[in-house]
Amino acid sequence: MGAMDRARPAPPATPVPERPAWARLREHHGEIATQHLRDLFAHDPHRGERLTAEAVGIYLDYSKNRVTDETMRLLVRLAEECGLRDRIDAMFRGEKINITEDRAVLHVALRAPSGRRIVVDGIDVVPAVHEVLGRMAEFADQVRAGLWHGYTGKPVRNIVNIGIGGSDLGPVMAYEALRHYSDRRLTFRFVSNVDGTDFAEATRDLDPAETLFVVSSKTFTTLETMTNAATARDWVLAALKDRAAIARHFVAVSTNAEAVEQFGIDVMNMFGFWDWVGGRYSMDSAIGLSTMIAVGSRGFREMLAGFHDMDEHFRTAPFGANLPVLLGLLTVWYTDFFGAQTQAVLPYEQYLKRFPAYLQQLTMESNGKHVTLSGAAVDYATGPVFWGEPGTNGQHSFYQLIHQGTGLIPCDFIGFLHTRNPLGAHHDLLTANVFAQTEALAFGKTPEQVRAEGTPDWLVPHRVFEGNRPSNTLLLDTLTPYALGTLVALYEHSVFVQGTIWDINSFDQWGVELGKVLAKTVAAELSATAEPELRHDSSTNALIRRYRAAARARS
Ligand code: F6P
Repeated sequence: MGAMDRARPAPPATPVPERPAWARLREHHGEIATQHLRDLFAHDPHRGERLTAEAVGIYLDYSKNRVTDETMRLLVRLAEECGLRDRIDAMFRGEKINITEDRAVLHVALRAPSGRRIVVDGIDVVPAVHEVLGRMAEFADQVRAGLWHGYTGKPVRNIVNIGIGGSDLGPVMAYEALRHYSDRRLTFRFVSNVDGTDFAEATRDLDPAETLFVVSSKTFTTLETMTNAATARDWVLAALKDRAAIARHFVAVSTNAEAVEQFGIDVMNMFGFWDWVGGRYSMDSAIGLSTMIAVGSRGFREMLAGFHDMDEHFRTAPFGANLPVLLGLLTVWYTDFFGAQTQAVLPYEQYLKRFPAYLQQLTMESNGKHVTLSGAAVDYATGPVFWGEPGTNGQHSFYQLIHQGTGLIPCDFIGFLHTRNPLGAHHDLLTANVFAQTEALAFGKTPEQVRAEGTPDWLVPHRVFEGNRPSNTLLLDTLTPYALGTLVALYEHSVFVQGTIWDINSFDQWGVELGKVLAKTVAAELSATAEPELRHDSSTNALIRRYRAAARARS
């Protein structure tokens, strides 16, 4: 019996718009909508220190949000009414809260210290987590010490991770984030796209004899990854001319040992994980093998400690002082009451340049859902679009729209007190921009202020900043492996909080299936030798014919 047969719909819950706190929030929004952050700050001189929370090295200033104490009280009440406490406990207990796939959701077990017991189907999963971590460490140590030799006897010094989605975005984000701590003698590349250019450019200057491929795929069936892995195998064999070379140049990270073996990778060279780890929640599982090779097993364990400390904070802190709960509730506040459709994440730390891309999968694959757990269509907005770029680059491109556009775009600014690259005044200037942007967004510039600067009347409207644009500021000490762990876990749990309020399943991703299935049919039609009988719509049929004509002309 497959998971699909076993899974059962959840009994209908009270729709969130019918919760008393939701109705109160709706009324309350009417009161808040007319208030300006300028006034909220003017009436409460300590607001900037009061509306803050701090835990595990992250200082969250949420005072520049369009909220009052009453808003926060009501949002916390909403979380309680929606059963957030029980949902958190159920997740940490290993209950199968991913009901459409009949799976537990236990990324928190990946960073549980040994000795902690987390039971799934009668088995404590923590010992297996530590067993894999131990094997990963042994392997990573060998590669880092130059003791993992390729088929010709040369030490491996290029590591290419092949994966996509959660099997790529986490590893590449973490590698970039922790580059400062990485072994600079090693070269790391990441291949994800089925576009052959990705593989070609990632490998064009590499020597196959010194290259190790880490094929990362939870299912080991994903079209992109399998295509790239097969190309990598051909690339290695073309140079080394012996299938025995595969064992020295390929390792796999997967839950599917059978498919790994079929591909030709020795299962001795496979690092496993489990179906209770979602792809987008897997960067701290064996999927992080490339991260561990880059920063060493100690660095990786420091990162896990950061994750775990945030898990514990999330599990135990009262909602009103709980960072993931606060962030999650604020997202719900803007999405459902202000109609915000997007949220910007703006890390002022160059090493976090891939963080917004990573968050896009985490947030949007999790909460881009249109039915509740019991299958009823939602009649409220769920997951907003997450996007962003590292500061200050965004300031010279899209911030104009955040400051003066017609939509409301809540922003998370992420800053650090210290940099790993203290060069002249760079870090002061960078940080000045974090603080200045949040100030400008919140307070803006009134027509009176603009006029007082000598601006002619006709130009005044163009130069006015209405302000009242909300932001969070997250301030951390230094970007370390530990800090990265806390930051990722913060967003993971914030997503869970949102999903709980919206009564959706944040852990499945049925919405990616249709395109995948159709692509298989179309791929066969593109490459068929005989003219295929096309049964698509007229647009798709015409596009396929055009492509086939170009292919004919090419050959
Ligand atoms: O297509 C979506 C998805 O299933 C993601 O959820 C996942 O992270 C990605 O594909 C890759 O899957 P896999 O690790 O099984 O190759």
